[in-house]
Amino acid sequence: MAIGRDEFRAALAHFASGVTVVTTRDDEGYLHGITVSAFCSLSLNPPLILICIDKRTGSHYAFTESKFFVVNILHEKQQHYADRFASNLPNKFERIEFLTNAKGIPILKDALVNLECELINSYNNGDHTIFVGQIERTVINDGKPLIYFSGNYHKIKR
Ligand SMILES: Cc1cc2nc3c(=O)[nH]c(=O)nc-3n(C[C@H](O)[C@H](O)[C@H](O)COP(=O)(O)O)c2cc1C
Repeated sequence: MAIGRDEFRAALAHFASGVTVVTTRDDEGYLHGITVSAFCSLSLNPPLILICIDKRTGSHYAFTESKFFVVNILHEKQQHYADRFASNLPNKFERIEFLTNAKGIPILKDALVNLECELINSYNNGDHTIFVGQIERTVINDGKPLIYFSGNYHKIKR
């Protein structure tokens, strides 16, 4: 028998991760961005990553429509980006500095890393969809990542 929601949350809260904002664009040209910690490296050759998006989010449909997305790994100074893109504000990109790439997808300026991806596969699992992206281009900046652990944001001390 499967464990319940509370036990799942309590166990998974012990896993520390970085924080990303994943961006895309829907068929009508509207920009979407969502705070995502369910991101991981999948394959070196070819270079693949995966993200898991809740089907109940407002942006889920945009990830199924678009062939492209960008994973922006947040810098430790960008907790306000994590808060903003986890909210249901109507225009999350207001007062956010970004460029758009050749596919029209937002690239957040000053993120620690930008990974420009082409959607290769998606898999329906439980209440989330796994989207697999092949990395086409990266930007890597100096600094340290924002960390999410036990329901709070942290900085790496060193
Ligand atoms: C630290 C953090 C990590 C999150 N990770 C994920 C995630 O991996 N996948 C997901 O679907 N939602 C995740 N969320 C929740 C979404 O960011 C949130 O539901 C967002 O408001 C969805 O935006 P939308 O409804 O405009 O698409 C996370 C939120 C926070 C604060």
